[in-house]
Amino acid sequence: MKKIVILISGRGSNMEAIVRACAGGWPARVAAVLSNRPDAAGLQFAQQQGIATGVVDHRQFPDRASFDAAMAEAIDAHAPDLVVLAGFMRILTPAFVDRYAGRLLNIHPSLLPCFPGLNTHKQALDAGVKLHGATVHFVTPELDHGPIVIQAALDVLPSDTPESLAKRLLDCEHQIYPRAVRWFVEDRLQLQDGVVNVINPAEPQLLMAISAHTPAAGVKA
Ligand code: GAR
Repeated sequence: MKKIVILISGRGSNMEAIVRACAGGWPARVAAVLSNRPDAAGLQFAQQQGIATGVVDHRQFPDRASFDAAMAEAIDAHAPDLVVLAGFMRILTPAFVDRYAGRLLNIHPSLLPCFPGLNTHKQALDAGVKLHGATVHFVTPELDHGPIVIQAALDVLPSDTPESLAKRLLDCEHQIYPRAVRWFVEDRLQLQDGVVNVINPAEPQLLMAISAHTPAAGVKA
């Protein structure tokens, strides 16, 4: 039985999707949900599920290195096989990333390597891309980079706003993140030369959302 520790900073809806899916018979359990924010809403859900929770408040530390060291200590107390970043809004030090190399996953709301950083939906709209999405990837020291496990893609509509894109994309995130984590705990992810393949994939490493575009009546595409 593998152990998963999930790190959140806020709402925790991706964490919730993983916890619910894991309860459906995975060879794993969520050992703890940790946050850098005492007021992270997701902590309450984890507690209700009987999952250990903890807070390492980044504001109590003078620098990134000391915060990351304290967070690593809190994580290691649960001896996890996998650490899952689910809306964990902190830039990580190379020492932290190296410590969990090969067992640290993140979800980012863009089709990486496009649009790393913040405000990804606005970045996508400003760039005029017609395809947007989310990526689950292994974490490497470079921010929002690393071997891609799975992506979800959706079409951008002329009427879209950052909020509408975020909302549609979140549904996709809730499908791809549990799938990626399950592959990991089933030992089915193979990483070679920076590329991730899945052993015996019953499901693809790409989720295409059903198009939200509705052509006007009588207009041919
Ligand atoms: C998600 O959309 C996730 O992709 C994003 O934060 C949101 C967290 O929502 N993560 C990042 O932007 C990381 N760079 P949640 O707390 O409801 O899972």
